[in-house]
Amino acid sequence: MTTTDQAGASRAGEPEAGTLEAELERLLSVESFDPPAGFTRRRPVEADAAAAAADPVAFWADKARELLDWDTPFTTVLNDANPPFYKWFEDGELNISANCLDRHVAAGRGDRVAFHWAGEEGERRAVTYADLLDETQRLANGLRSLGVGRGDVVGIFLPMIPQVAAAMLACARIGAVHNVVFGGFAPSAVKERMEVSDAKVLITVDGARRKGRTAPVKAAVDAEMGDLKSLERIVVVEAVGAAALGGARAPMTPGRDVWYEELVAAADPVCPPEPMSAEAPLFILYSSGSTAKPKGILHTTGGYLLGATYTYQTVFDIDPESDVYWCSADVGWITGHSYIIYGPLSSGATSVMYEGAPDYPDFDVWWKLIDEYKVTVFYTAPTAIRACMKWGAQYPDRHDLSSLRLLGTVGEPINPKAWLWYHKVIGGGRCPIVDTWWQTETGAIMISPIPGVTATKPGSATRPLPGITPALLTEDGQPLTEGTGVLVITQPWPSMLRTLYKDDERFVKTYFSRFGPTTYLVGDAARVDADGYFWIIGRIDDVINVSGHRLSTAEVESAIVAHEAVAEAAVVAQADEQTGQAIVAFVTLAGGRAGDDATVAELRDHVATRIGKLARPKRIIWAEDLPKTRSGKIMRRLLRDVAEGRALGDVTTLRDPTVMAALAAKIAEAG
Ligand code: WTA
Repeated sequence: MTTTDQAGASRAGEPEAGTLEAELERLLSVESFDPPAGFTRRRPVEADAAAAAADPVAFWADKARELLDWDTPFTTVLNDANPPFYKWFEDGELNISANCLDRHVAAGRGDRVAFHWAGEEGERRAVTYADLLDETQRLANGLRSLGVGRGDVVGIFLPMIPQVAAAMLACARIGAVHNVVFGGFAPSAVKERMEVSDAKVLITVDGARRKGRTAPVKAAVDAEMGDLKSLERIVVVEAVGAAALGGARAPMTPGRDVWYEELVAAADPVCPPEPMSAEAPLFILYSSGSTAKPKGILHTTGGYLLGATYTYQTVFDIDPESDVYWCSADVGWITGHSYIIYGPLSSGATSVMYEGAPDYPDFDVWWKLIDEYKVTVFYTAPTAIRACMKWGAQYPDRHDLSSLRLLGTVGEPINPKAWLWYHKVIGGGRCPIVDTWWQTETGAIMISPIPGVTATKPGSATRPLPGITPALLTEDGQPLTEGTGVLVITQPWPSMLRTLYKDDERFVKTYFSRFGPTTYLVGDAARVDADGYFWIIGRIDDVINVSGHRLSTAEVESAIVAHEAVAEAAVVAQADEQTGQAIVAFVTLAGGRAGDDATVAELRDHVATRIGKLARPKRIIWAEDLPKTRSGKIMRRLLRDVAEGRALGDVTTLRDPTVMAALAAKIAEAG
């Protein structure tokens, strides 16, 4: 809708004509954007869609042969004899590091840059495929010398440095299973993930830099990891050195700890890749569920690599000869696994890897890097786009972004205004946007526009990719072709999770009990419009999505109640303009104590050290009592209503109906 009169003067309260704000307002009335004409379509996606619709299993078999190198070709494709324990390509053998490295080097592309690495103080390093293959082989031999073999779990707690790629690939090379923990998690969360996965070795770093400061990571890890029996060795990358750590190198425990650089230098440079069964575990990645215990999502070798490779090439329209691709995620999330490491490397692409924050040294650092490296494809999260919008278009405007030809988003629903800003300010109005919906569990993108093919609607992830069959069900399992419902996936796909690590029962219960063993329950609600476009609404379980990071209410609650001053806590999500959702904690203090600002700060710090800064509640509301049903269950729905300022609904099922009125009065009083 245009907001100016004919003379172009703006009406009161409306944006001035000719401004970006006015243009965004106008664009908000545009329902759909056609695929740009002349956009190079490199992949036969229409043929893929037709083939997948006719016979999805044959389609995936063809793609697996076309895109991956197999040591032993598979003869069976899908084994669905025991749902939901599906197996793909199970008699085939391959090695992921060979697919990501050796095959490109053997084809004469060893000099191609795999990663243009950039550090926040202006450091630059180019790592070629040949370099990465050399480092991976040495580290693989180094890990073997520490006793790591097939099936052993190796923890990885590293910042965004090239060694993280070598670490993951070295595990894959010898059949070890990696368990990467996001660098922003607290050491106690790292310890928990090492403990529950029985990790034998942890690869970490002496220190990590962030916005000009250095965190002493190794010292902090030591403080937690001391009594962990299963953890035999710790490999330490010396990334920052003694000077940055106040004059002394990171503490090392003799017999247990070894410097990464020494291990790699001493190792044999040749390590032939182990042929692995397609169904051999590749990695575990912990993600939040509806209990306090994180879920160890397990992915295997062949199907996962196929999903990451096929979707990377299809959704990002990648030409490895000419594209420079950048995904701004952290490698500690599934987006980093699939779209920084495995998809790009298996495709032989060139990526940017950046260790730093988007607002340091200034708010234009991302755009500066895009200009410097002539990035063509950029993939980020809605929360980051909203932050950039807040900082203002003057920062991207300082740089030449004309190299960009395609933009992507992931992690949470994107609001149309942020979509339009991204399209207009970053993409210059010419770059299609791929809003990619998927999950840690799905391994690869499931619903997304295909650039040059799919018309986009701001806020919709549009349509499923070839071979993927999402559907909507009513609460009682009836299929819906249009409207709002519970999102499910009706057929298995190669990159699906295989189980929760050492917990088949929880796997079945979480994903395959509500609608039976062949219908995967996503955990999101969605709407499908008359064009068959999917609009993801959000989680239907007790998972909060803060800036695209999944956190469980139970996990945050258990961290809060672990504080000695706390008697009880309930955590809910509140809509937040910046982070999508924010964490609100209702806390009852022990002994009827009243809360104060110092206790708020203490509890926030406490959560930061138990889980990580990202889990700190944005608001803490002191509650003398929490709303409970007669059976004692906390009614989080009611707490969300008060947190978001909605009128109170029916409270008659509460054990003590006056609790809610008291809470609402308290919030009103606090303003
Ligand atoms: C949400 C991240 C809307 C969704 C790859 C999903 C999205 C959860 C989108 C998975 C999107 C992810 N639009 N919502 N494009 N992408 N989500 O496991 O709720 O960290 O279930 O995987 O993020 O988060 P996860």
